[in-house]
Amino acid sequence: MTDVTPFIEQPPPARAAAVIPAAGLGLRLGPGAPKALRPLGGTPMLVHAVRAMARARAIALVVVVAPAEQVALVRSLLDEHPPPPAVEQLVVAGGATRQESVRLGLAALPEEIEVVLVHDAARPLVPVGTVDAVAAAVRAGAPAVVPALPVTDTVKSVAATAASGDPEPVVATPDRSLLRAVQTPQGFDRATLLAAHRANTADQATDDAGLVEQLGVPVVLVPGHEEAFKVTRPLDLLLAEAVLARRRTTDDF
Ligand code: C5P
Repeated sequence: MTDVTPFIEQPPPARAAAVIPAAGLGLRLGPGAPKALRPLGGTPMLVHAVRAMARARAIALVVVVAPAEQVALVRSLLDEHPPPPAVEQLVVAGGATRQESVRLGLAALPEEIEVVLVHDAARPLVPVGTVDAVAAAVRAGAPAVVPALPVTDTVKSVAATAASGDPEPVVATPDRSLLRAVQTPQGFDRATLLAAHRANTADQATDDAGLVEQLGVPVVLVPGHEEAFKVTRPLDLLLAEAVLARRRTTDDF
């Protein structure tokens, strides 16, 4: 009998890009080079972050947003550590705030990109499984997807008025079971993210999903990963070195 199974043409997968804001100075890490250029296991943190994104199957393009005066330096650094052949990379100059840097990265995206993942250079060790899960949820139809973990500390709200160094009056203790600590990459339908950035250039959002929430568009959380932590303080660098050393011995990383 002839096989009559119809050939169902699948639409091509939406092309996804990663925008990596890496233009911050990272002053909380102490004096030295901009945070994204600090070495981790002998390789700049930014290179780890680019690799983490480029390894994900969905990603066709990585846009790195560098400190304005270091675009050439970052370009040559990334040329020394090229991504897999199927992945393009671009370096553009960043702005004074994270939000502005992301906006400048988005402006560099070619038209055919439909899905955008925004990933902080300061989270160099995010596992590829987390990146894939975020991209897959956006491709499945969610306009905004954020990896998140339950919080382990109890969190207090304080009055905004206390002078620095003074004891801070507590105003509330939110129910910890309803709080989540969010990470990156945060994934978006491109049109939604562009609309969110256009609608709000005044506030200084600390994440992109916050801007999308202001539009009234639903944002969903997927499980984050403890190794996607942000390298902010000197202790985080020690932890990152330890994670990397373990991966190099156990995962042939
Ligand atoms: O300051 P914070 O840790 O929130 O920065 C998160 C990310 O935003 C970092 O990767 C940093 O390099 C980036 N950033 C940026 N442009 C700025 C400030 C921060 O790209 N002006």
